[in-house]
Amino acid sequence: MIVTIDGVAASGKSSVASGVARRLNIPYVSSGLLYRAATLLALEAGTDLGDAPALIALLSGSPLRLEPLPEGNRIFLTPVGEQETGAERDLTADAHTSAVDAGVSALAQLPELREWVNAQLRALTPPFVAEGRDMGTAVFPQAQAKFFLTASPRVRALRRVKERLEDVAEVEAALVARDAKDKAQSAPAADAQLIDTSTLDLSGVIAAVLRGLHQ
Ligand code: C5P
Repeated sequence: MIVTIDGVAASGKSSVASGVARRLNIPYVSSGLLYRAATLLALEAGTDLGDAPALIALLSGSPLRLEPLPEGNRIFLTPVGEQETGAERDLTADAHTSAVDAGVSALAQLPELREWVNAQLRALTPPFVAEGRDMGTAVFPQAQAKFFLTASPRVRALRRVKERLEDVAEVEAALVARDAKDKAQSAPAADAQLIDTSTLDLSGVIAAVLRGLHQ
């Protein structure tokens, strides 16, 4: 079984996917974390976020491992020279900075990078809950149940500033800008159930998804 949960930036996808996955006792998979880790590596290496061949070369030499657990996803890098020792660097926290937020959409619009992410996602063994922008459309069109989360920009910004000490208006503007850049890959699937989470708390959204699974 594959359940997809797509939605706009900071609509609560990861928390909802985690809550649903825990109830179903299966992992959830964060596709955004793969785009974020690729962006982080490019920023650190000084690679142009629009240069697909250079990015693919960088990623080919930087083995990443996504750990998709029900409680949360982590992503690890085996640094150059550490293949023998197996020592890994946990990229998860560094992949969630504002610098990565600001750059990730440029990389995510490159078809070659989308193929790189999608190949890793399709290699995973179901069952799982897949969370992102295009899980129900491009990556897992065969999913048994699909959801698309929305919320007003102000509500999303208020939720995000609880995680990061930043100005609400600035965060809201950055979210709206990122939505615009991600628009091409962010349409709900024709068979997705839409959930506006603006007036719901986390447990309310999880309950709505679980109800939707039985429809
Ligand atoms: O979901 P999250 O905010 O972590 O995603 C980070 C970025 O990765 C998005 O802004 C988008 O550019 C890209 N992304 C994507 N397709 C997905 C998941 C994420 O383009 N399925």
